[in-house]
Amino acid sequence: MTKVLLFGATGNVGKKIAAELTAQGYDITIVARSKEKAGELAAITANFKIADVTRPKQLHDICRGFEVIVSALGKSVSINDKSKPSFHDINFTANANILMDAKKNVVRKFVYVSALHSEKYTHLGYFNAHHSFSQKLKQSGINYSIIKPAAVYSAFADLIPMAREGKLVTIGKGDKKTNPIYEGDLAKICVDSIKEYNAIVEAGGKHIYTRQQINDIIQQAVNPALKIKNVPVGSIKFMLPFIKIFNSNKYDKYAFFTEVTQHHTIAPMLGEMKLEDYIKARVR
Ligand SMILES: NC(=O)c1ccc[n+]([C@@H]2O[C@H](COP(=O)([O-])OP(=O)(O)OC[C@H]3O[C@@H](n4cnc5c(N)ncnc54)[C@H](OP(=O)(O)O)[C@@H]3O)[C@@H](O)[C@H]2O)c1
Repeated sequence: MTKVLLFGATGNVGKKIAAELTAQGYDITIVARSKEKAGELAAITANFKIADVTRPKQLHDICRGFEVIVSALGKSVSINDKSKPSFHDINFTANANILMDAKKNVVRKFVYVSALHSEKYTHLGYFNAHHSFSQKLKQSGINYSIIKPAAVYSAFADLIPMAREGKLVTIGKGDKKTNPIYEGDLAKICVDSIKEYNAIVEAGGKHIYTRQQINDIIQQAVNPALKIKNVPVGSIKFMLPFIKIFNSNKYDKYAFFTEVTQHHTIAPMLGEMKLEDYIKARVR
C-alpha cells in the first residue's frame, strides 16, 4: 500500500481527501495541530502526527517513510477565522518547509491544493501565497500535482447565518460568473492526480452561476422572505486601506472577496454535485 502523509486533513477539503485516499486504498497518516483535531478523522484513520506547521523544527523529518505528500494546508478564508498567521505564513512558508522536508526524505509525489487564477492576482496576499508556493513546487524537482479549484462549496457556508439574519449582501452588480466545486468532487480529482506526472488541474463544478445567483440559492434555502442588499464595489474599495492599517489579515480577506466577485472565475467543469443540493443539505 502506498504511504501518504496528508496536511490540512482537518479542513473542508482535507477531510474529503482523507476519505477518498482511504476509499482508493492508500495507507494514510494525517497531520493535525492537536489530538482533538486528529480525532475528528478517527472514523477514517487512526494514524496521525501532531505538529505546529508554523514551527519548522516540528516538521523535521515529518515526511520520512512516506511516498506521497498531499497538502490542503492553507489559512482559512472564512471571516470567522481570527488566527494570527497570514496567508503567506501558512500557504507559502509552512508548505515550503514541508516541501523541503519532502525533498530531503526523497518523497516521490507532492499534491498541492492551490487556487484558480492565482497567477493573475499576485497583488493579493491569498493568491500570491498560492502562486509563490506553486512555483516553488514546480521548481523542486519532485513530481507534482497542482490542483486549482475555482471555489469550493464550503466557502459559501459563512453566508448561511448571514442569510438567516437578513445580512446577506451582493458586492456590486453580482453579474460575474463562477463554477464552484463540491469538495468531495475536488478530493477525487486530487487523489486521482497522484498517478499523473507534473500535472496542473484547474477544477470547477458542472454548473456556472453569477454571484447574485449563488446568494439567491442560499437566501431561498434559508429564508426567502428576507431580501439581499447590494453594496457598491466603490464603497468597499474605499474602506480597504483603512482596514489594512488596523488588521492586515482582515484586509487580505476582504480584498480577496472584493476581487473575486468582480471577475469571472470559471474552471473546466469537472465536478458533479449541484450547489443547490449542497446548500439544501446544510440548512436542513
Ligand atoms: N475555500 C475555497 O473556496 C478555496 C478555493 C480555492 C482554493 N482553496 C484552498 O484549498 C486549501 C484548503 O481549503 P479549505 O477550504 O479546506 O480550508 P480550511 O477548511 O480552512 O482548512 C485548512 C486546513 O489548514 C489547516 N491550517 C490552517 N491554518 C493553520 C495553522 N496556523 N496551523 C496548522 N494548521 C492550519 C487547518 O487546520 P485546523 O482545522 O486545525 O484549523 C485545516 O486543516 C486552502 O489552501 C485554500 O486556500 C480554497
